Amino acid sequence: MSKQTFARLPGFRDFPPEDLVFREHILGAWRRVSAKYGFQEYDGPPLEPLDLYVEKSGEEIVGQLYHFQDKGDRNVALRPEMTPSLARILGDRHRSMAKPIRWFSVPQLFRYERQQKGRLREHFQWNVDVIGEEGVGADAEVIAVALDGLRDLGLEQDDVHARVSDRRLLGAVLSAIGVEDTRLPTAFAIIDKIERTPADQSLARLRTEVGLDEAQARSTFELLDQGGLDGVKGGFGHLDAVGAELERMDQYLGSLEAMGLGGFVDFDLRIVRGLAYYTGIVFEIFDRKGELRAICGGGRYDNLLELVGGDPLPAVGFGMGDVVLGELLRDRDLVPPLEPHVDYFIVIIGEEHRELAYAIARTQRDKGVGVQYALREQPVRKQFTAAGNAGAREVIVLGPDEVARGCAVLRDMASGEEREVPLKELQ
Ligand code: HAM
Repeated sequence: MSKQTFARLPGFRDFPPEDLVFREHILGAWRRVSAKYGFQEYDGPPLEPLDLYVEKSGEEIVGQLYHFQDKGDRNVALRPEMTPSLARILGDRHRSMAKPIRWFSVPQLFRYERQQKGRLREHFQWNVDVIGEEGVGADAEVIAVALDGLRDLGLEQDDVHARVSDRRLLGAVLSAIGVEDTRLPTAFAIIDKIERTPADQSLARLRTEVGLDEAQARSTFELLDQGGLDGVKGGFGHLDAVGAELERMDQYLGSLEAMGLGGFVDFDLRIVRGLAYYTGIVFEIFDRKGELRAICGGGRYDNLLELVGGDPLPAVGFGMGDVVLGELLRDRDLVPPLEPHVDYFIVIIGEEHRELAYAIARTQRDKGVGVQYALREQPVRKQFTAAGNAGAREVIVLGPDEVARGCAVLRDMASGEEREVPLKELQ
């Protein structure tokens, strides 16, 4: 009979201790920074009704859903993102809550993605959202949280930068070029992919799908290719519709400058975001060299709560994944070492003192001190090796002579220094 083996599913990860320590290092920074900004943690179910995502999240994510019919014939999906759940949870619960609401979450998410560097079929994603505030101050606050999350992990402006834009500004510019309102979503979808698509293909799509003539398509492409704020100001700043949007962008960038984060942020008109529900300022954070996929993406989504059946409420937030971020931290040698650590390892020299060891361990553990010992009779040498493997700070040696005198020997594992301690101080 051949032995059956079970391979891990592609795109999923195991987390042996050294990897779990790394994951918790990242999640710890996320939670710490969320708390510094006064955000409260929430969670929701990993399985949701399929309809929560269809038409709200956009085609790309819906095509990647893990979905099935449950035994009650419900169409369900593993959550591919948190934002629709957040909108559902707040539905009418928000009515009794003070605004703005500052919530964060660290869910594990599932997307059936094509396997590539930086994209798996599950990941942990830090979500930070401000709900109930339409002012640009909320947009500045959430991107500041994201950047501080990266700074807490040791990344600085030489390592990462945020590329920011505003769908309202891009919409106003495209309208001025001659794009009809009904074609704006198509134009956004083309621009979202413009960096990963050959130029002639994007130009052709701007003509055939958006209805631009050759000259309009070219000037749109050039403006996007330069991507900078000066190009937009120079070409379109004199138009009222564009001017109002530029003013908001200036205020946003000015706030980030005042927060000491200006060096992390670059305006870039090509940032649109793939998800359908964004309505305003949008941003993505990348490694500065541009070698990896996006680390983080977010923006304003003022219609989503209403779309999932709740009251209309403005909202803005982001999602930051642990996969690309992990790659970047590894690349920069910003990985914490795996340090097993207990405070005491009790070395039992005669088995008759095992129960004494248990009594000491009970007292110490109840005080919050970490204690280990060999689980069966072992030579002393082996017990010391085990103490070293456990990362013990000190070893408590229960030698027969010392125990007979009511004492134990405490050895500091780093210095090798030994001292006698009365058993009643340990028990
Ligand atoms: P998203 O851009 O789809 O946004 O995902 C945000 C981040 O999650 C990405 O930048 C990436 O780091 C990570 N990520 C996404 N998919 C994968 C994957 N398959 N493997 C590894 N990492 C991945 C959202 O999900 C929005 N709901 C974020 C948001 C919150 N917007 C407002 N509030």
